[in-house]
Amino acid sequence: MKGSLPMLQLQPRRQHHNHSRNRSDHRHPVVVVVVRILTHPLVLVGLGAVYVLIVTRYTTKLKDAASQLPARPTPTIRSFPTRIQPRDRDSDGDDDVDGALCRQITSALDNFASWPDVEYHKDRGQYTLIPDTDNDYYDESYFTSVEEDDSHARATIAEFNKIRSSVLTPQLLKEGIQPGRIHPARQFANRLRRLADSIGADNNERQPPQQPLIIAVFGSSFTIGSNCGESSAQDAVDCAWPQRLIRRLDELLLPKNHTWIEWRMYQENAQGSVNIAQKMPSIIDEYKQRNVTPDAILLDNTIIDAGTYRPWFEATVRAFIKSFPDTVIISIVDGKPFFDDSPRSDTAWLHQIQRHYGLAVVDFEAMALLQRHDTGLSDNIMKNLYNGRSIREVEDDTTPIDLIWPQATYMKFANGTIAYDEDCDSGEMYWTNFVPLTRKTKSANYPDAHPSWVTHQHVADGVMFGLLNSLKIGLGCDSVDYDNSLDSSFESIASMKTSVATKEEIDACFICEEPLTRIDAKSPPYVGHTIANLTVIDNSVNGADATAEPQSTDGTVALMCGDWKWITDERNRSGWQSDEYGSIIRFRLRVSTDKLPTISMTYMKSHDTFGDLRVSFQAVSMKDLNEPSSPFSSFGCNDVHKFELNNDGTTLIPSLRLDGYLQKFSLWETAVFPAELDESDVNAVDAWNLLNQTVLSRMMTTNSGDNRDDNAVEFVDLYVINTNKFLSRIKIQVVTSC
Ligand SMILES: *[C@@H]1O[C@H](CO)[C@@H](O)[C@H](O)[C@H]1NC(C)=O
Ligand SMILES: *[C@@H]1O[C@H](CO)[C@@H](O)[C@H](O)[C@H]1NC(C)=O
Ligand SMILES: *[C@@H]1O[C@H](CO)[C@@H](O)[C@H](O)[C@H]1NC(C)=O
Ligand SMILES: *[C@@H]1O[C@H](CO)[C@@H](O)[C@H](O)[C@H]1NC(C)=O
Ligand SMILES: *[C@@H]1O[C@H](CO)[C@@H](O)[C@H](O)[C@H]1NC(C)=O
Repeated sequence: MKGSLPMLQLQPRRQHHNHSRNRSDHRHPVVVVVVRILTHPLVLVGLGAVYVLIVTRYTTKLKDAASQLPARPTPTIRSFPTRIQPRDRDSDGDDDVDGALCRQITSALDNFASWPDVEYHKDRGQYTLIPDTDNDYYDESYFTSVEEDDSHARATIAEFNKIRSSVLTPQLLKEGIQPGRIHPARQFANRLRRLADSIGADNNERQPPQQPLIIAVFGSSFTIGSNCGESSAQDAVDCAWPQRLIRRLDELLLPKNHTWIEWRMYQENAQGSVNIAQKMPSIIDEYKQRNVTPDAILLDNTIIDAGTYRPWFEATVRAFIKSFPDTVIISIVDGKPFFDDSPRSDTAWLHQIQRHYGLAVVDFEAMALLQRHDTGLSDNIMKNLYNGRSIREVEDDTTPIDLIWPQATYMKFANGTIAYDEDCDSGEMYWTNFVPLTRKTKSANYPDAHPSWVTHQHVADGVMFGLLNSLKIGLGCDSVDYDNSLDSSFESIASMKTSVATKEEIDACFICEEPLTRIDAKSPPYVGHTIANLTVIDNSVNGADATAEPQSTDGTVALMCGDWKWITDERNRSGWQSDEYGSIIRFRLRVSTDKLPTISMTYMKSHDTFGDLRVSFQAVSMKDLNEPSSPFSSFGCNDVHKFELNNDGTTLIPSLRLDGYLQKFSLWETAVFPAELDESDVNAVDAWNLLNQTVLSRMMTTNSGDNRDDNAVEFVDLYVINTNKFLSRIKIQVVTSC
């Protein structure tokens, strides 16, 4: 496919009537309820924030406007030998809804050019800006006026809109998109169908569906939108592909005001599969508690995973499949070239895992490579859409032009001079050899790992294409060519009998599925329980609790100083909470004497009154507990000052500060203190160092001999100290040891 596709206009919506049901008995007198909980876009910026976006809309009918569009030849996704038949309808199935959905999906897949153009963020409204700025804001490092910023942005967007559907050609999409196993695709499609069914008729008084679709997103600095900004005023979250995907779903699939998807955003800076693995128990636990499963999991961590020496990606995928066998897992491959000399740097292993576990794939590395090799495509775009204009300053430069994902590791100033990251703090500069010419608006480094908004839009469109494709196959819209060998081999995969890496390698990627100790504020015996008050003011009796029965509830959670108490709220978010400076709580966790422990703590991050947490550990042996004269002593009120910051930023007793503040909403976060540090895992270095200094180093020296030795470390005490002088609330929900 060369050249541009015709631009098609969306037709007015067709009325969709559902005659097969009569729900008037269930109707509420209320006409239209619009519940819209939008996250503030900034909640994701910062350290490891998790945010939830729930958009709930009710309206009158399905949008199937796209089904009115003229048909064009379908880009085939993959030719596989087996044909699957349209699935059997459930007895309560609704052919009308199915038909409408299929028409809508097929039409969207067939008419990529008809997808709505990108609209400049400032024309979309207030939630698109960096918080606490307004339409007059611009970054003075890169622009001299807001008009300059706006006019560059609008020009680039116009160019992008002109070429976008000529860039992601059917050939490229075929190269990069694979549907994965059919079973999860069917589950996903069924849930969407039920949702459409329950709201899809010509009235606005429908019963809301029981449960929205849940889509979980994981990813790294690229996913959170580093360097992403149509203008320098656009918020990174609004610019990054997940939010663009949300907009695409709204535009193409979900009726207006009808979006019913709960997005769980887990992406964080530098997140690799290893970090997902660490948080896996709390992620899975959260869904189990709510008795729901995610419908789709989008994994976008390849830039970080490329640097790892262990098969964390495979271990994570296995854990997801084990817990959520019905969930569509989409493995997104970033177009950043695999650069390291690590064993995982070559994409063959990744493709093997995708294939072995039947993952759905959206592969931007494959698409970017093919696009570079197909110089006809870029030549054609330059000739037809840029009137032969060249973006090169040297006539005989033959470096391929990138249309999807910039490969150059440097930017260029307006005069053509190369700008490396250290030169990129000010001035007018552009992504190198990239079309459309896109100006730098943000200060992040690594232009190839942190490409512009243009790449984010391509990724959103590619993932949207992948989702629609999974839905089409899952709905059985028409007979599709499909490789069901992925599914027939799944029996052995589901039981985890086979793997790509060796069993030993996988086992070394430890995921704590069965904690040794789990102290959960919302489970018995902690619910409503008054915690043991071991507060001691007088230092001479500090440690007097040492003989307390360690396994008892009373000893497991103890108030060491101040105002910690068990509380719960209207949304059943139970926890141990403190508002007072100087309050200390202690959790006593059993650890194994023959394995180094991994400790995790789940706590609330929140806006308004929430502050940071300071944590420390202490290793405890039986001898410590039985001989109060031993060096062991609990931390109490007299020790609070030891957790105050010194001038050099350290504390007298080794400790770590955890960020408890969120711009908006109250959401959990899990801090993990791993027994081992994967060399690629920059996110866990500080946590590991603390555990090493306080616990691991002692265990490594004392546990070496006889396990019966009463010097052996049997417990780890986790202390949380409230050192906040304002914004002082802290709330802890779950603590585990493995
Ligand atoms: C959609 O919601 C907006 C406000 O959120 C409202 O103004 C508009 O009328 C709604 N549209 C429909 C079709 O219900
Ligand atoms: C190009 O522009 C940059 C930034 O303004 C400047 O530092 C550099 O000297 C210029 N190079 C030439 C060859 O003019
Ligand atoms: C805990 O005990 C200390 C010392 O007896 C006392 O001052 C404090 O009020 C108690 N705190 C709670 C929450 O009961
Ligand atoms: C709160 O949690 C408890 C324990 O899990 C459960 O029994 C109770 O039904 C929950 N209440 C609400 C309102 O969800
Ligand atoms: C672990 O902690 C011990 C004790 O503080 C220290 O001597 C050692 O250097 C630490 N190991 C690393 C790798 O930092």
